[in-house]
Amino acid sequence: MNARRPLIAGNWKMHETIAQARALVRALRALTLPSGVDVAVAPPFTALAAVAGELSGSSIALCAQTMHERDEGPYTGEISAPMLRELGVTYVILGHSERRAGCAENDAAINRKVQAALTHGITPIVAVGETRDEHSAGQALPKVTHQTRAAFAGVAAAAVERCVVAYEPVWAIGSGLSDEPASADRVMAEIRACTTGLGDARILYGGSMKADNAALLLAQPNIDGGLIGGASLSAASFGAIAECARTRALT
Ligand code: PGA
Repeated sequence: MNARRPLIAGNWKMHETIAQARALVRALRALTLPSGVDVAVAPPFTALAAVAGELSGSSIALCAQTMHERDEGPYTGEISAPMLRELGVTYVILGHSERRAGCAENDAAINRKVQAALTHGITPIVAVGETRDEHSAGQALPKVTHQTRAAFAGVAAAAVERCVVAYEPVWAIGSGLSDEPASADRVMAEIRACTTGLGDARILYGGSMKADNAALLLAQPNIDGGLIGGASLSAASFGAIAECARTRALT
């Protein structure tokens, strides 16, 4: 069994009403997705239940875009791990740069969320990445290794192994221009080496991964899959990216 089985996850962000989400999942289910590649979709909270229903009997996994660190309590607007579990959610994106920047999600909170997700049997997809300024200043490696170590502080290596990290250079997200494959791979090798347990964990690339650049990215030794934003909103392009991971599944 390949511990680093490829994973292609679609982050729908704040897109898709329930009706649109249903239609997108139906279009995805009409495709023949490659065997040996794990595929997940992360709809907005409002569409999770409908998408769970549409995914019934399929191998596509359900992912949430964030969650609160506590199981319950006076946290208006928040959603907890037990609530997500009840809907059949098996992955959760934690620490996406849009939440770090816009929702004051910091390293300590992300660490508590990672622990909460693991406690409830949900696999965290921890997003890390440097901003354009940090990138230009040559600070990518210290930034992402710091974020990675902080996210997994106090987590046993055996549990870290089951987690997923997504390296998403902030400057590449939504820009239409991905990082260079070899350069992304170099950063991802450092992420893999900076925390015990990540050697056998899956590390995804995110940031303008599309059908026309996925094959080159997924050919890199440290890129085990992708966290896809814009290109996951079309079944055809998302399916084409998953197809690019097929070769990797065979290695
Ligand atoms: P993008 O988004 O593919 O649209 O760049 C990726 C992400 O933010 O996860």
